[in-house]
Amino acid sequence: MSVQPFGTPPPDGNAVVQARDLRQVYAIRRGWMRPPAQLQAVGGVSFEVRAGRTLAVVGESGCGKSTLARMVSLIETPTAGQLLLDGADVTHATESDRRKLRQTVQLVFQNPYASLNPRKKISAALEDPLAINTSLSKAERAEQARAMLARVGLRPEYANRYPHMFSGGQRQRIAIARALMLNPRLVVADEPVSALDVSIQAQVLNLLADLQAQLGLAYLFISHDLAVVRHIAHEVLVMYLGHAVEQGPKDKIFARPLHPYTQALLASTPGLQAGSGLRRERIVLKGELPSPLTPPPGCVFSTRCVHATDRCRAERPLQRLLDERQVACHHAENFLEPATSPAPPGALPIPVA
Ligand SMILES: Nc1ncnc2c1ncn2[C@@H]1O[C@H](COP(=O)(O)OP(=O)(O)O)[C@@H](O)[C@H]1O
Ligand SMILES: [Mg+2]
Repeated sequence: MSVQPFGTPPPDGNAVVQARDLRQVYAIRRGWMRPPAQLQAVGGVSFEVRAGRTLAVVGESGCGKSTLARMVSLIETPTAGQLLLDGADVTHATESDRRKLRQTVQLVFQNPYASLNPRKKISAALEDPLAINTSLSKAERAEQARAMLARVGLRPEYANRYPHMFSGGQRQRIAIARALMLNPRLVVADEPVSALDVSIQAQVLNLLADLQAQLGLAYLFISHDLAVVRHIAHEVLVMYLGHAVEQGPKDKIFARPLHPYTQALLASTPGLQAGSGLRRERIVLKGELPSPLTPPPGCVFSTRCVHATDRCRAERPLQRLLDERQVACHHAENFLEPATSPAPPGALPIPVA
């Protein structure tokens, strides 16, 4: 019996996923006497990812990355906006549609141990999706599970072991293998290497890149770490307080970030400042991250931006195309040339989660 052909890349370059102005607002209870507060976790984010491409979503803890991941992987319905998978509108898909669509989009989490049942052998973790969603025989399912283990760089006989017998990196390989069992088109990976040692991170990132090249997968890759993103991304979307402040080709954004927040993130990532083409003193932040319950009026970044003007504090900047990327900053033109003026006194480096 043969293993089915796996993951033939689609002939066209159409977007696997398109997000249009996706929003998520949570109602936060504040005791039985008061009405719930509205927390806007994602405030209108748009993007698309094509087959074989990786869009990396970056930003500090709490900026809405995981909320975005849950919407795109059909775990949560957006409050507003539109989500298309392979061109079909799935924003308001029914529960049974969603179950089917979860074959198209799969999620990989930061902590693979939490997502693997400690009492189940790896074979069960890999075969269960096939048992539920296909009519393959037990022997065929076992064969595919073993083939998938080999594909992610593990020995097929590991299928008989339990999750605790593996290292963190091996467990993440198993989680990736499980995500691929149903031959998805899109993998949403939420901080998939953040819990791993740096040396192991590189191996898992290389595996993800190899699998993408072989299978034509689209990745929505979520990370707070620009050093990781630099390895894996084709496009980058930088989020701040639920908003996309800058998005476009990775090379453009890393070579010359045009949003002051992107500049600050790059400056705070060890080893990346040199390539940023910016002088360090301009890349600073002040103050604390605001609460998403009380976002600043105007530009959401204005309370921490050393370049903010009265206009920034009053008027929300729309995204606009500048130097091949979308940027939401009233003053982005000023950053097209290398910096000359030092930052004002009192500006602090950004803390990164
Ligand atoms: N289910 C939820 N209910 C209420 N608030 C939430 C929920 N999930 C996330 N949040 C809030 O939404 C914001 C974004 O969270 P999250 O998407 O987890 O950010 P990130 O993954 O970038 O750290 C945070 O302020 C968080 O507290
Ligand atoms: Mg998160």
